[in-house]
Amino acid sequence: MKQTITTFLKAKQTGQKLALLTAYDYSTAKIVDSCGIEGILIGDSLGMVCLGYKDTLPVTMEAMIHHTQAVARGTENALIIADMPFMSYQTSLSEAIHNAGRLIQEGHADAVKLEGGTRVLRQVRAIVKAQIPVMGHLGLTPQSLNLFGGFKVQGKNESAALQLIEDAKRLEDAGAFSIVLECIPQELAAQITAAVSIPTIGIGAGVSCDGQILVFHDLLGIYSDFTPKHVKLFADAGTVIRQGIQAYVSEVKSATFPDPEHSF
Ligand code: KIV
Repeated sequence: MKQTITTFLKAKQTGQKLALLTAYDYSTAKIVDSCGIEGILIGDSLGMVCLGYKDTLPVTMEAMIHHTQAVARGTENALIIADMPFMSYQTSLSEAIHNAGRLIQEGHADAVKLEGGTRVLRQVRAIVKAQIPVMGHLGLTPQSLNLFGGFKVQGKNESAALQLIEDAKRLEDAGAFSIVLECIPQELAAQITAAVSIPTIGIGAGVSCDGQILVFHDLLGIYSDFTPKHVKLFADAGTVIRQGIQAYVSEVKSATFPDPEHSF
């Protein structure tokens, strides 16, 4: 069944947990979409796990549209959410609306996500007014990496925590349909979740959030550069892939592949 922002809001009301995952290409999206996932995020994390950058800042609108199109072709059920990359919504309201529109019209996403609270409320309001659903993102927002001084847990002192609660309420008020909470203390995530009537989607934010999201490559052990504390390895696909490739190399070298069964 096709998931919509209405199903997200209903899940919050009924207490049903939402499971989201990132995907960046057609074949992966098909697998993810067949597993009961409610939302697929084409995260700008693709800059790190697919393109090999050290952070998400170099990701462009063109890259986001390219990967969103591929995911959309492989997705029937999940809500498709595309990240707005760095500098695609910060410069002006008209740029923000234009770029959100491109992710929907050219990328075939159902919704967009952008990072920040109070400082991006005008953009959130304008994009929602243009009839595009917006997912917020608070806490460790990777596009603010240089201001944070690294990938660090956010909201640890009282004033930062109060600001995040305020940001979440304002995002809801501006029309966001859900909010990602990344790398904040679990007690704070629980407080934010109780303070808003839209679903919170946690990543490194504890079990009280209304849903969870992980990066596909992290969940399956495919990205080895860096493993944050919140990542649980649900299956070691990295090892399975390596073993498969090693077996292929060995059969090619020993001339046992292709065998008669795989020859014409
Ligand atoms: O870019 C991304 O994958 C994200 C998730 C980690 C929430 O923003």
